Amino acid sequence: MPAAVLIGAQWGDEGKGKATDLLGSRLDYVVKFNGGNNAGHTVVIGDEKYALHLLPSGILTPGVTPVIGNGVVVDVEVLFEELEGLEARGVDVSKLRVSANAHLITQYHRTLDKVTERFLGKRQIGTTGRGIGPAYADKINRVGIRMQDLFDENILRQKVEGALDQKNHLLVKIYNRRAIAVDEIVDELLAYVDRLRPMVTDTALLLHQALERDETVLFEGGQATMLDVDHGTYPFVTSSNATSGGAITGSGIAPNKIDRVIAVVKAYTTRVGAGPFPTELFDEWGDFLTEQGHEFGTTTGRKRRTGWYDAPIARYASRINGVTDFVLTKLDVLTGIDRIPVAVAYDVDGERFDEVPVSQSDFHHAKPIYEEFPGWTEDISGAREFADLPANAQSYVRELEAMSGSRISAIGVGPGRDEIVTLHDLLG
Ligand code: GDP
Ligand code: IMO
Ligand code: MG
Repeated sequence: MPAAVLIGAQWGDEGKGKATDLLGSRLDYVVKFNGGNNAGHTVVIGDEKYALHLLPSGILTPGVTPVIGNGVVVDVEVLFEELEGLEARGVDVSKLRVSANAHLITQYHRTLDKVTERFLGKRQIGTTGRGIGPAYADKINRVGIRMQDLFDENILRQKVEGALDQKNHLLVKIYNRRAIAVDEIVDELLAYVDRLRPMVTDTALLLHQALERDETVLFEGGQATMLDVDHGTYPFVTSSNATSGGAITGSGIAPNKIDRVIAVVKAYTTRVGAGPFPTELFDEWGDFLTEQGHEFGTTTGRKRRTGWYDAPIARYASRINGVTDFVLTKLDVLTGIDRIPVAVAYDVDGERFDEVPVSQSDFHHAKPIYEEFPGWTEDISGAREFADLPANAQSYVRELEAMSGSRISAIGVGPGRDEIVTLHDLLG
């Protein structure tokens, strides 16, 4: 079973890093296809904890070739910081390959991200401030800088000039900031050229050839379905396609090559940044989930907003992505709750919606309609088989499965690599 896509079903931080790591030893390639260093994946291996942002989580598994696809936006300074950090901890990073078509995040993208947010005031998105949106905007506006431009100094200079021309007017006249010099950017980027040369390649061809040899490739999405620029809660989204379609355009591999679509979904819901969130809790249960689940952002350290499981969102993710298997994570966090509410539909100004409403105004007004399921008090972190779970935990999982549109094939019962219950082989 050679090609699988792994994506987030909710608003991110579902535990995608852990799920990728879990499959690690069976994979030949792990490909990041969207986003950049806005992602934050925590992987716990024994006593060691790793926080990855730009690099695919597969980099931690010996033997795996990690790939940064064309759909990713790369901040080269961050790339080398992260690589050096891993090397210092003994991780072999020499296999990393980066698409020649991936776009770059530069200093002016980071600056524009921050000033734009400030100007939006109370309408701000709550971005990670990493320059993600402005870098994708340049890509779509056809004034972006790509990896391959670094290897032709004349072209690089021309492109940076083109990109800065308008931006300096914006920065100086609208945002009251200093102008950025072309040389400053060109010199910054050229400093990395020699180290980048052996990594940068035609990754679409590389992956195509790997699949022809029947090697196993996992496409690991950053962010998640509800943060997707097309299918998420626009404008409170990231600027890339975080759904399974993004794996196609963001890697250059055709849709008929994909065998499985694995969606990671938390047993409750969290969100970082602004935007609608129907099941959000503002009471002590919200604090309970934050504390038990350690819900603080891996990238910005911000406290995550928390709420109950939202079945219409899981069904939506199932449809949009063509999910074949869910990995349900953080079930252990719900231990100790007497009755666990799950949103089964919404009430929008008196009208019942069984599915996510297409109108954002309706979604902003959506009040969850809850069903409650009996909880459990036993510690479940030692469970490895479904039968090891208390009866109420088993029925909670079965209820979620019935409501969520695809089967649940694995259940996370703790952050550690082996803290997982497997029901169906994710790659079989
Ligand atoms: P990602 O962005 O989807 O990779 O997820 P993050 O790493 O940002 O957030 C998920 C957090 O939950 C990390 O701290 C993981 O170590 C942790 N985690 C993953 N699966 C489980 C689980 O089943 N139980 C518990 N308690 N923690 C988990
Ligand atoms: P992982 O991969 C959670 C959110 C930001 C903000 C919005 C836009 O760890 O699940 P951006 O900087 O991308 O322009 O910000 O998207 N966001 C995430 N939230 N997990 C992430 O990644 C996120 N990446 C971006 O908080 O609301
Ligand atoms: Mg994360």
